[in-house]
Amino acid sequence: MKDLNELLENNRAWAEDIKTHNPQFFQTLSKEQSPKYLWIGCSDSRAPATQLVGLRAGELFVHRNVANVVVHTDFNCLSVMQYAVEVLKVEHIIVCGHDGCGGVLAAMQNLRLGLIDNWLRHVQDVMQKHDATLSRIADETLRLNKLCELNVVEQVLSAGRTTIVQSAWERGQELAVHGWIYGLHDGLLRDLKMCITNPEELAAAEHATARASA
Ligand code: CO
Repeated sequence: MKDLNELLENNRAWAEDIKTHNPQFFQTLSKEQSPKYLWIGCSDSRAPATQLVGLRAGELFVHRNVANVVVHTDFNCLSVMQYAVEVLKVEHIIVCGHDGCGGVLAAMQNLRLGLIDNWLRHVQDVMQKHDATLSRIADETLRLNKLCELNVVEQVLSAGRTTIVQSAWERGQELAVHGWIYGLHDGLLRDLKMCITNPEELAAAEHATARASA
């Protein structure tokens, strides 16, 4: 039970492999990080952020929670965003959901799992807002995947409304918020064509989303 040697051995092999190709890699990286991207994704073990976009250590700043939710009172997510935007000066925030998300499914089925129900309440808000769209989809898997997409769209809008993103835009800092979905079945990312780079685009996306949900 206490033996995690396999993981520690994996780690040694990983570090050795990197040092073989680039002997200074860790020394250089230990001095500073300058990632261009902040990833806000689901905690799901099947959606490993850095690996699935082919980046190396130091290239992707990451925040993950169940169902990739951006909540305005979540100081964990907001602190990550603030540090990423104001200190690291990332240029892109990528909100990435995935199809077949267990958190989104639990929200959709109104399951009683405990504390997490309160967290998933945010996804249920998305579900209620888009009830007209979702109720037209009879197949449960398709409906789930649509809700996964709509959740990303709403979380992109939510990220855009934070004081962090708003202030960055006011300062003239270049910052784009994107919405993506990761396919567990094929390992591929899909761009939801949701990219917001200023308050006008945010307002337009909010109107479009509200119209689509009516
Ligand atoms: Co998930």
